[in-house]
Parts: sequence; C-alpha cells; structure tokens
Amino acid sequence: MNFDYTEEHLNVQQAARDFAQTELLPGVIDRDNNQEFPYEQIKKLGELGFLGMMVDPKYGGSGMDTVSYVLAMEELSKVDASASVVVSVNNSLVCWGIETYGTEEQKLKYLVPLASGKVHGAFLLSEPEAGSDATSQRTTAIDNGDYYLLNGTKNWITNGNTGTYYLVIAQTDVEKGHKGINAFIVEKSWPGVTVGKKEDKMGIRGSDTHSIMFQDVKIPKENRIGEDGFGFKFAMKVLAGGRIGIAAQALGIASGAFELALKYSKERKAFGKEIMHHQAIQFKLADMATQIEAARLLIMKAAALKDAHQDYALASSMAKVFASETAMWVTTEAVQVHGGYGYVKEYHVERLMRDAKITQIYEGTSEVNRIVISREILR
Ligand code: CAA
Repeated sequence: MNFDYTEEHLNVQQAARDFAQTELLPGVIDRDNNQEFPYEQIKKLGELGFLGMMVDPKYGGSGMDTVSYVLAMEELSKVDASASVVVSVNNSLVCWGIETYGTEEQKLKYLVPLASGKVHGAFLLSEPEAGSDATSQRTTAIDNGDYYLLNGTKNWITNGNTGTYYLVIAQTDVEKGHKGINAFIVEKSWPGVTVGKKEDKMGIRGSDTHSIMFQDVKIPKENRIGEDGFGFKFAMKVLAGGRIGIAAQALGIASGAFELALKYSKERKAFGKEIMHHQAIQFKLADMATQIEAARLLIMKAAALKDAHQDYALASSMAKVFASETAMWVTTEAVQVHGGYGYVKEYHVERLMRDAKITQIYEGTSEVNRIVISREILR
C-alpha cells in the first residue's frame, strides 16, 4: 500500500492552493454576503483546466485521475465552497456522465465546451417531491416520434441559471417505474425552458441555485443518453462519482476551518498564555486533525477504486457520510476555538460552518447514503 502522492498530484494540489489564495480568497466574504456568483474565478478555473479535470484531452479535458481531482477540490473548498461546487458538479456529474455514457456526437457537441471550461453544466434530478426518493420523478419526457416532449419542474439546481447545458432526468414511461426513466442533454436556451427563482440559502451563498421549469420543450432523439430506460441507473452511477467530489468539498471545508483554528490558537492569549497551551484547546485540535485524516483516507480509497475501475459506490457513500459529518463537527469546533470572533463574518469560520451543512444534504442526504451503505453490507 502506497500513501505517497505523485509529482503530478502535488503539482495539481499546489496549483489549486495558489489559485484559492490569490483568486478566491479576496472577495469571498462579499460574494457570500451579496449572493454573488464567482463568474471571473470560474472562467479562470476553466482556462486552467479545473472544469474538465478527468476528461480525456481529446475532448478538451485535462486527463487527470480522481485523486488529483480530490486534491484540487480540497484546496478550493478550504477557501470557497461556492466556487468548488461548480467544479464538482461540472466534473463529476456533467462531464463524467457524458464522457462515460454519451455518444461520440454528444461528446463533440457538448463535452468539449464543458470540459474545456467555455461553459459549465447542471444536473437536474431533484424535484419538489422527489429529492431522496429519486424514482418518483414527476417530470415527463414523452416520446412524440421525432422528439421527446419535456414538461415539469426541477428544484435546488446548482448552476441552474449560469449553466449552459443541463443533464435532465425524466420519466418517459410511468408504468415502468425506475425502468421508465431516461436522461437527456437539454440546452438552457431552448424554447420552453424557464429559470425560476434563485434560492436564498444558508450557505454556499455565492453558488447559483434555482428551480427550472420545462413547458413543452422539444428534445431531439439524439440527446437521450444511453439505451431507453437507462436514466435511473445513469443517475445512480453519476451520483456515486459525484459523492467523491462532495466528500472532497466537505474535507476542504473541514481542513480550512481547522487551519484557521490552529493559527488562531497560536495567536490568541487567555489566562496568560496562547490558547494552544491549554489542554482544552489541544484536545479539540487533536480530535479535529484525526477526524480530518480519517475522512481523507476514506475519500482517497473511493478515488483510488474509481481510478482502478473497481466498484466504488459503497466507498463513495461511506466517504461522503463521514466527510460531511466531519465538516459539520470540525467547523462547529473551529467556531468554538475562535470564541466570539468565530461568530462574526471576518474570521471566515462562521461561513465555513454554514457551508458545511449543505454537504450533508446534496448528492444524497446522509440518510440516503446510509441506505446505500446498509444495502451493500446487508446484501
Ligand atoms: N449503480 C448502478 N445501478 C444502481 C445503483 C448504482 N450505484 N444504485 C441503484 N442501482 C439500480 C438498482 O440495482 C436497481 O436496478 P434493478 O431494478 O435492475 O436491480 C435500480 O437502480 C433501482 O435501485 P433501488 O431499488 O435501490 O432504488 P430506490 O428507489 O430504492 O432508491 C436510492 C435508491 C439510493 C435511495 C436512490 O434513490 C438515491 O440515491 N437517492 C438520492 C438521490 C440524490 O442523491 N439526489 C441528489 C440530487 S443531485 C444533486 O444534489 C446535485 C447538485 O446540484 C449538487
């Protein structure tokens, strides 16, 4: 067993760290306050190859492995989880889904601009009444001979307004349950697509979350992904990889908060000495570091399995549950270490605590991921 990173891994990690410090850190508090999408920063991340990290260079990607992607996600998320969720959704859900299951025509038309960062995409599964229970889709795409006719509403869509291309999961045959679900590539500019209200969120406030409405949208037949009825399995496969990205985001939020708490504990004095000399603080820091390292190992195992083309659905759900709960716990402790300063915006940890919460909710709540885990271990 080898725990060493390659030179390429270390270079990617350093590049992401530098980008986070120079491009994301300035303005991150204002973007959070004003719910401003990081347009300039996402454009630059695209130019640097961070939006199609694992995509084959022949389709405009960077041709890297999942371990590199996790390292980059951690570094970006330490500073700005609103930016890193764009990176995660575009890489693991949209690009991976099209590259793995799309036709050559779909790859040339959609994957190339998505992977090269000219545009970014969104993944539309959740509905007002179908978030965790993903088989209960109400959005329909009815086969009309020449095209599918799409109608319905999707909720809580990351990149809903800024995304150019959507991967839409819809019911094509209600009688067939999950076998009557398909996935389609839909362009936001098509007639009948309406971007609904922007959500006013607790955390990741710089990210762009909307409901999306479809009314009689004509989807060309060639935009269906995979065989008829493959849509639910497509969504599950895509989400298994997506959960590695969100686990890495949670890891970054946790390690960002830990680094701030560590630094603060060396500066802040109480009872005549820096607070790092108090055992109450030392034990907190020790537990935070241990939880973070355990989360990292689970995530890297899932990433290594994916890179080795082995089954990683169980490992990614375990990583996501553990890392997201670690993020929530570590950020809460980091606020505690900062005392009153931790409760105000300029010290960053209060934002990280708010951002941590979403990692327990999106791409499968902690509860849904426990369903995935328990089904595997009870099988
Ligand atoms: N790979 C391949 N196939 C899979 C699979 C996987 N990982 N998981 C399930 N399947 C298959 C099953 O084998 C089954 O196929 P067969 O009938 O042929 O055997 C089929 O899919 C149905 O599976 P289940 O019976 O297990 O389905 P279920 O209705 O019980 O639901 C669930 C399972 C795990 C709860 C699933 O619905 C789920 O993961 N829900 C959560 C969805 C989710 O993560 N939503 C987040 C929205 S996306 C988002 O957040 C993006 C963003 O913007 C950041």
